[in-house]
Amino acid sequence: MGKKLIANLKMNMQIEDIKDYIKNIENYCYGNIDIIICPSYIHIPFFANRQFKLGSQNVSVHEKGAYTGEVSSSQLKEVGVKYCIVGHKELRNNFGDTTDIINSKIKNCFSDRIIPIVCIGEDKQDKLMGSKKQVLRREILDIFKDLNREDMNNLIIAYEPLWAVGSGMMPSSEEISDTIDFIKNLFYSAYKINVDVLYGGSINSKNLHDILSVENCDGFLVGNSSSNIDEMIKIINMINNS
Ligand code: 13P
Repeated sequence: MGKKLIANLKMNMQIEDIKDYIKNIENYCYGNIDIIICPSYIHIPFFANRQFKLGSQNVSVHEKGAYTGEVSSSQLKEVGVKYCIVGHKELRNNFGDTTDIINSKIKNCFSDRIIPIVCIGEDKQDKLMGSKKQVLRREILDIFKDLNREDMNNLIIAYEPLWAVGSGMMPSSEEISDTIDFIKNLFYSAYKINVDVLYGGSINSKNLHDILSVENCDGFLVGNSSSNIDEMIKIINMINNS
């Protein structure tokens, strides 16, 4: 199976950029790659029904009701969203997404047949203290504690070290490979599922080469570089030629 390339466009695009961006990406939707684009909520209709797959950057913890500014999983489903990023660092840090909130958001995704892309990762302090695996273990056991095992077969994990997101810093390819092994083994021993694990954090066309050689990495979650069309085309070509 091909590698996944997930573009988290964050809050980086204006409508005037979108038409060209989509046209270009659609020209590259072939080969050994599965492209999923996650635009801002308001831009989702522009990205729907295209050659690539459609994801969202967030979902409400609530199902329905008086929640001003929120968007539910059933509303996302209605406009063609098939994937949803959950537990992103920027939502944990800026909007207080806790383990319980992340757990409920995943449940909402499952109930509307949306595949959650769940971000987990250690912060700088954990890394320095050597407690990365302990932290990841805790997250995996807490976030997924009471989820339906069958639903969990439709799940993507993004290993995004918090210190690597938007910082220009990355773990070595050996570290990424070792951590992905750890995550996959833990999912298997705790939940008996084989989960796809992506890497995310400061990926660009210059450093992608190193991570491409990480065999157990099922793909990439790209932030800032993904809204730059030249970068995206380079990244797509590199994955396709790897
Ligand atoms: P950067 O690629 O900008 O570091 O962001 C990663 C990310 O947040 C993907 O979700």
